[in-house]
Amino acid sequence: MPNILFIDHTGKEYRVQAEAGKNVMQIATENMVPGILGDCGGACSCATCHGYVDPAWLDKVDPKSEAEEMMLDGALNVESNSRLTCQIILTDALDGLVVRLPASQI
Ligand code: FES
Repeated sequence: MPNILFIDHTGKEYRVQAEAGKNVMQIATENMVPGILGDCGGACSCATCHGYVDPAWLDKVDPKSEAEEMMLDGALNVESNSRLTCQIILTDALDGLVVRLPASQI
């Protein structure tokens, strides 16, 4: 099973192993990783699953959809590597993915 390294805004690390096919928000919330809320359940309509994909992984994750871009416009502290984690589906090719978490989602 692939694993993801989540790093919170204080630098604390959470390494999680998960099944391919789940989205990254779902994996974070199921594993009690703090900092990802996922209020809309992954419907791309809340932006409370905002995370920063490590630049080394940016070209390996699927590109943002127009809907994701629009939702990110309303998120806090958006950066060039910002993503809605519910829109990233874990695959075996993403084994080792690194996602940093913002200090706040709201
Ligand atoms: S969980 Fe709501 S946009 Fe990702």
